[in-house]
Amino acid sequence: QPRVFSGVQPSGNLHLGNYLGAIVNFVALQESHDCIYCVVDMHAITVWQDPRELSRQIREVTAAFVASGIDPVKHIVFNQSQVSVHAELAWVFNCVARIGWMNRMTQFKDKAGKDKENASLGLLAYPSLMAADILAYKATHVPVGEDQKQHLELTRDIAQKFNNDFSESIAAHGFGDAYFPITEPLITGPATRIMSLRDGTKKMSKSDPSDYSRINLTDDADAIAQKIRKAKTDADALPSEVDGLKGRPEADNLVGIYAALAGTTKQQVLDTFGGRQFSEFKPALGELAVSRLGPIGEEMRRLMQDPGHIDAILAAGAARAEAIARPVMDGVKDVVGFIRRN
Ligand code: TYM
Repeated sequence: QPRVFSGVQPSGNLHLGNYLGAIVNFVALQESHDCIYCVVDMHAITVWQDPRELSRQIREVTAAFVASGIDPVKHIVFNQSQVSVHAELAWVFNCVARIGWMNRMTQFKDKAGKDKENASLGLLAYPSLMAADILAYKATHVPVGEDQKQHLELTRDIAQKFNNDFSESIAAHGFGDAYFPITEPLITGPATRIMSLRDGTKKMSKSDPSDYSRINLTDDADAIAQKIRKAKTDADALPSEVDGLKGRPEADNLVGIYAALAGTTKQQVLDTFGGRQFSEFKPALGELAVSRLGPIGEEMRRLMQDPGHIDAILAAGAARAEAIARPVMDGVKDVVGFIRRN
């Protein structure tokens, strides 16, 4: 049966890209699917994290999920390190995946920079842990932003290679002809790739040194409005057709953000704003952003005042996640030929 899984790293400021590219879709999928949403703290430490900051960020991502409308009772919200199956399965996948596959990942190349030899081994193996996250639940659908597409292709490769390498044993243990499903990425909507507000050719990211490059979920109304006012644009009026956004990355980005926040399409935004100047469009976008994000930021701040409550949500979610993942891992152990306690 269909099952949704996705993860968000607690490694910095949650921003509009995370919200529109991922979290909005997490919320929508709850209507139609069983969903598991994970705060991937083990992925976060592939680059150095200050321990006290990390704990705070884990709670903050959890608060963002709940404040955005994810229901941790009907669905499952937890942090990765509480369910040891993720680490166990990742090890098996480290032995299925090839080093060459990892070396080709663009996120690894970006994050490792020039000094690849000095990156953590975890950063190289990152996609293998990600495959374990998804396949520990035999998830069939994974909503993400465009930047995770390559990782999800690798998840499919790992599932396929496991199914092939162990096909005889899988059948012998009564699991049929495939143990893991081949996961579908869900990369949908007008905001699969939100760009920096300072440079329309760079992705909006948690790690950009300029805070003016992104809108954080915790920004207050003044900060949101100011960042949009200062966003880089060109000098022309908005076009009236989507085609006219070609070669205008900043304009394209702001129109896409408007469409995603309003739940419409870029063309519908241009039907209203085509021919108008940014001096008119930006205040409208600012107002829309404040009305959508303001209440979420406020609810996050309220939830963060009670860390005990957040920790209880994570603990309950982890117990329910474990109940799904443990039998999957037991099956993997049997298939691989490990001997386990019954
Ligand atoms: P992370 O934490 O970098 O980002 C969380 C989600 O936000 C999306 N996203 C964006 N979408 C549109 N525009 C942007 N500028 C933008 N920036 C980020 C990401 O695509 C992602 O969906 N490796 C993952 C976390 C992960 C995961 C998983 C995801 C770990 N295990 C299993 C799915 C399934 C990551 O680093 O996301």
